Amino acid sequence: MSDIKKVGVLGCGLMGSGIAQVAAAAGYQTKVRDVAQPILDKAKAGIEKSLAKFVEKGKLPAADRDAALARLSYTTVTTDLADCDIIIEAVTEDLELKNGLWRDLDGRSSPQTIFASNTSSLTIAAMAAATKRPDRFVGLHFFNPVPLMALVEVVRTVTTSDESFKRAFAFAKSLGKEPVAAKDNSGFIVNLLLVPYLLDAIRALEHGVGSVPDIDNAMHLGCGYPMGPLTLLDFVGLDTTYKIAEIMFAEYKEQKYAAPPLLKRMVLAGLHGRKSGKGFYDYSANPPAASNLGL
Ligand code: 3HC
Repeated sequence: MSDIKKVGVLGCGLMGSGIAQVAAAAGYQTKVRDVAQPILDKAKAGIEKSLAKFVEKGKLPAADRDAALARLSYTTVTTDLADCDIIIEAVTEDLELKNGLWRDLDGRSSPQTIFASNTSSLTIAAMAAATKRPDRFVGLHFFNPVPLMALVEVVRTVTTSDESFKRAFAFAKSLGKEPVAAKDNSGFIVNLLLVPYLLDAIRALEHGVGSVPDIDNAMHLGCGYPMGPLTLLDFVGLDTTYKIAEIMFAEYKEQKYAAPPLLKRMVLAGLHGRKSGKGFYDYSANPPAASNLGL
């Protein structure tokens, strides 16, 4: 364990609830905050289901699952997180929304408390600058599904102190993750490389290079990737990917980060992938069938 004892998590969607789960499982008292009770209830049920899977597979003793669940608490009050030693934000990719939360907590949190953002593509410096603790601000970028993916990118920006970076790095390690150090450039390491690949897969589909299952099978079977790119896009969320692409395009002005028209239209149509029941695949079928996108 690091010198950190209490963990706060802002936002408990897919990423926030996964982060809260691994923090609680690693022995930290963990408080989760979201805007409404039904969202918290859904996150709690998801965490219970995921931990139950680990117990079922013999990867986690039932007593450890119970202890992890007992370390978790849920609130709709942002300032309830003020006594945490590290606060990890995993809300929508909206800078103003994030900075509003940081401002609510900045004056109330201990001077030692580290603020960390799980942003995929926004600039850490733009959040650090909104607080009075730019030296104690880092990026901690987790990967979906958080309980299974070993990597955390630990991101230092131009104002992050060596001490804060080291504490955040040690904290990521204490979660049982494999941290890597990354600079505060939009997309860090993984999305810098992954996003153009995912967008190119959509462009390949637009250009009729292959069908949805053929593009996926090609990369899954030809390169040994655990999921094909279109399955991964559905898994990450098309709305999320679209937002990330927009942010990265605004940063770099490079064609490879430009959202393809098909992605934009699917997002406009509410085809957000697995979470909405339909994206490149229709998840009402078992197994999921390629969606008819009129291509
Ligand atoms: N909690 C606990 N256990 C889980 C779980 C969860 N949330 N999800 C799946 N599992 C378990 C399953 O029960 C299964 O257990 P078993 O092997 O003992 O039977 C095991 O994990 C494997 O699951 P599946 O058989 O369902 O499927 P896979 O073998 O395909 O593995 C996967 C699933 C680990 C998600 C794998 O497909 C994978 O690695 N996919 C790529 C994911 C990826 O690239 N993520 C990064 C996305 S990018 C990102 O997050 C960054 C952001 O900024 C965009």
